[in-house]
Amino acid sequence: MTDLALQLLIQTLHASDSAATSNLWVLDENLTAADISGVTKRSPVPLTLMCNRFDLQQQLAQNKVECTFSDFDFSKFENNSVDQLFYRVSKEKAVVHHVINQAYRILKPEGKLIIAGYKNEGVKTYIDKANKYLNGGSEKTKGGQSSHLAILSKGTADSSARLDDKDYTSLRELSQTGQSFVSKPGQFGWNKTDKGSEFLIQHLPELLNSLHKQPETLLDLGCGYGYLSLMAASLTPLNKITATDNNAAALVSCEQNLKSTDVEYQVIADNCAQSIRGRFDLILCNPPFHQGFAVENDLTQLFLEQTHKHLHAKGNALFVVNQFIPLERKANDLFEKVRVLAKNSSFTLIHCKR
Ligand SMILES: C[S@@+](CC[C@H](N)C(=O)[O-])C[C@H]1O[C@@H](n2cnc3c(N)ncnc32)[C@H](O)[C@@H]1O
Repeated sequence: MTDLALQLLIQTLHASDSAATSNLWVLDENLTAADISGVTKRSPVPLTLMCNRFDLQQQLAQNKVECTFSDFDFSKFENNSVDQLFYRVSKEKAVVHHVINQAYRILKPEGKLIIAGYKNEGVKTYIDKANKYLNGGSEKTKGGQSSHLAILSKGTADSSARLDDKDYTSLRELSQTGQSFVSKPGQFGWNKTDKGSEFLIQHLPELLNSLHKQPETLLDLGCGYGYLSLMAASLTPLNKITATDNNAAALVSCEQNLKSTDVEYQVIADNCAQSIRGRFDLILCNPPFHQGFAVENDLTQLFLEQTHKHLHAKGNALFVVNQFIPLERKANDLFEKVRVLAKNSSFTLIHCKR
C-alpha cells in the first residue's frame, strides 16, 4: 500500500528551494529501500540520509544511495547547520521526540522541520508539540487517509516545550528476574522481558540436559539488548557468544550487556546474520514477525535459512514464535529434524537440527 504520508514528504522535497544546500532525511522503520531510492535520486537538493536499521542501509548501498547507520546519532551535525530536515514519524514516541529535539539544535535559524505521518500514529500531536518547541510558525497540509504534514520553522525555542525523549541516548538499568540488564529506547520491547524469550529460557535447560556435549558457541540471532545471550550464558558455560541484530539501539545495549559477562563475545550489525561467517553449536532466536507495520513472512523464511546455514552439523537451534506463526511447517522444508519442545497458550518453542 502506498504510504501517503511519505508521498506528502516527497512532494515537499520536490518543491524545495535550491538555496537549501544542507538537507537531512531521517529514515524510520516503516520505509523500505524501494520507497527511498527513487526519492533521493530525483531530489532537487543535496540530501543526506540517516537510519537506524542496518538492512535498510545495506539495501540503499546496493542501490548506490549513501545513508549513515546509527542510533539516530546527530552528534556529527553542528548546531545551526541544516536547512531542512525531513522526517516520517517513527512508531516509538521517544524516538520521535528525540528527532524533534535534535532537529531544533541542528537546524539553521528559520530552517525547516518537515514532518509527516498518519493521524493514528499520533502525528497531529507530534506536529503541535514540535511547533510549540520550534516556535517559528507552521504550514500544515492534509493528505489522503488522514495523513498529515507540517513545515515547521525554527524560531527561538520555547525551552520549556522541549519534548520528553526519555533521555533517548542513555542506557539504563532494567531489573529482570535474577539478572540485571541495561537497555534504551529505540528498539523492540526495550524496557521489558519478551514473554516468548522468557518461555525459551525456561525450557532451555531441557534441551541442554538432553545433549551429550554442551554447546561452546552461541549465535543470538536478532539479539535485541541481549536477553537470550546473557540468560543462556548463565545456564551453560559458553566459550563464545556472537550476537547480531539490524537495529542500532539494540546493538548498543547488547554490547554493554555482554561486556558484563566473562565470555568472549562479538556484537555484529547485520541483516539476519547474512554476512556472518562460521557455524555455531547453539542458535537461539525469537524472530520478529513485524517489519515496520507490515507482517513480514519472508523475514521468517530468511531467519530459518540463515539458521540452517549457520548451524553446526550436530548443532541445535531453538526458535520461539507466537502460536499463529507457521514456523514449524517452514522449518520442515529445511531441517532434518524439527520438533516442538514446548508449547503454551501463547508460544511454541521449536527445536531444529540439520
Ligand atoms: C522479538 S525481538 C527479540 C529480541 C531479543 N532476542 C529478546 O529476546 O529480547 C526480534 C529482534 O529481531 C531484530 N530484527 C528484526 N529484523 C532483523 C533483521 N533483518 N536482521 C537481524 N535482526 C532483526 C529486531 O531488531 C529485534 O531485536
